[in-house]
Amino acid sequence: MSEMNNTLLEVNDLTMDFGGLRAVDSVSLNVCAGEIVALIGPNGAGKTTFFNCVTGIYKPTNGDVLVHPPEKKSQKINGFKSNRVTTIGMARTFQNIRLFQNMTVLENVMIGRHCRTTTNIVGAILRGKKTKRQERETVERSYDLLEKVGLLDDADEFAKNLPYGAQRRLEIARAMATDPFLLLLDEPAAGMNPQETKDLDELIVRIRDMEKIAILLIEHDMKLVMNISDRIYVMEYGKEIAQGAPMDIRNNPKVIEAYLGEETDA
Ligand SMILES: Nc1ncnc2c1ncn2[C@@H]1O[C@H](COP(=O)(O)OP(=O)(O)O)[C@@H](O)[C@H]1O
Ligand SMILES: [Mg+2]
Repeated sequence: MSEMNNTLLEVNDLTMDFGGLRAVDSVSLNVCAGEIVALIGPNGAGKTTFFNCVTGIYKPTNGDVLVHPPEKKSQKINGFKSNRVTTIGMARTFQNIRLFQNMTVLENVMIGRHCRTTTNIVGAILRGKKTKRQERETVERSYDLLEKVGLLDDADEFAKNLPYGAQRRLEIARAMATDPFLLLLDEPAAGMNPQETKDLDELIVRIRDMEKIAILLIEHDMKLVMNISDRIYVMEYGKEIAQGAPMDIRNNPKVIEAYLGEETDA
């Protein structure tokens, strides 16, 4: 596949083994500019493992992860460390929230910004002109992001004092602070009430439309992603069992079968 059709992420035949367990079995997936793509499937299907391979947490056993950053050269990133993947322009959130709980909301976002500033330890000590300017920009940009995710009023609150749904939005703001071209969200609606989930759906669409960031979203609940996804991939037992537009996925017998016995009304 070429960049002609604006592909940002291209994963080919990705496989991940843990000892004897094949958690991801030859899965291929791509995300194009401007898309919201969902990766769904029952618990244990291998969705998070797929993310971990794409974002440098694990080195895949087999297959290729290719990125085509806008206006930069394409790269094969198998085995790159996660901070390098972030710098290339792919940022993520985690199924289990990973915030600095004893730091403020603003500080959590500023940390995300760090990978885009050039200040080193010497610069930080000497606090030259450039350092000060970058610090100011970091603070401004962080406030800006907090406003976008609806947390401006909580900027000085400790992360641990935020309700669950707000913590998830803070994770998104921190990921956005790294200036990604692709944002990977691992079950961002987990633990949210229906109103929070609705707000989150709107936020994700806004990020795509206003910030021009493509989204790859893991979601356990099929119904939830139907509204906002352009395309959906479905995994079960490590394998990709279906892909297509939401309507096709909704009516796909294999998908319905995979979700039988789950509490969701797929
Ligand atoms: N680090 C690991 N070591 C061993 N097995 C793992 C590891 N991570 C995930 N698995 C296993 O891989 C399978 C897929 O897990 P996961 O990717 O978390 O699924 P999902 O996110 O779709 O619920 C599960 O059987 C899980 O127990
Ligand atoms: Mg998972």
